[in-house]
Amino acid sequence: MKNQQDPIVVQGAMGVETQYIIDRMTEVREEPFGPFRCVRGLFEGHALVVCETQWGMANASALAALAIARYRPQAIISQGTAGAHDASLAVYDIVLGVRTANSSAWQSHYRAAGAGVDYRGLKQLGVFAWDKGRKEFTQEVYHEGNPALLDAARRAAALYKHGRVVEGTITTCDSWNCEVDRITFLHEFYGSLAEEMEGDAVAQVCQSFDVPFLDVRIISNSILLNQDPWDLGTGPVCQEYVLSLLRAYWQDVR
Ligand code: 5AD
Repeated sequence: MKNQQDPIVVQGAMGVETQYIIDRMTEVREEPFGPFRCVRGLFEGHALVVCETQWGMANASALAALAIARYRPQAIISQGTAGAHDASLAVYDIVLGVRTANSSAWQSHYRAAGAGVDYRGLKQLGVFAWDKGRKEFTQEVYHEGNPALLDAARRAAALYKHGRVVEGTITTCDSWNCEVDRITFLHEFYGSLAEEMEGDAVAQVCQSFDVPFLDVRIISNSILLNQDPWDLGTGPVCQEYVLSLLRAYWQDVR
């Protein structure tokens, strides 16, 4: 049973994905992990920790494991910007990660020397995380978002004015895909709505340590719509949504 005095940890990769929340916290204390910024404080009286992870899976998962050891958090949220895998998504739409998958965890089929490469010819592998029911590490392609956090996210969705809030699969990889055919493949192969570089790595760690987790992402770019650069104005808007998610969550558990 998680203690309601324990903080919730919110991760973002960059200042533009963390500072909006930090600016709205009280009793703020800088508690870095080595060179990584980590800020503890209160939001509307509730304990909150914000970690700025920098880009990528290794950084985000290391910071998740360190935060679990230091803070024993009630939950961890990975949030920030993402690229669309679904042509119906617009910049400023939000995707709730009902599930996440690591899109670098695959095995290719055998091909002889000179036979070329085919990135569609793959078998999904998944990654190992602890399965507390089976009491063993199991290899899973998808990690489920926590139902209580998802429930709070759904209630916060009613207040979101900058676009739609949709639910589905988010894929994670240390890559940024700009080929339309590659994105269409990932959309079909994983059923993904969006891609980013942290979420599933944190989901994997959270599953092993039995910490509730949710990935919340705002579409900041869509190669399917246009080749516009990354709209970093989405970073603060995503954090504003995460704060209303937290309000809804804390209302529930009170
Ligand atoms: N592909 C991958 N990562 C993206 N991010 C935003 N858009 C994309 C995209 N199209 C996020 C990642 C990482 C940084 C590059 O922004 O999660 O933190």
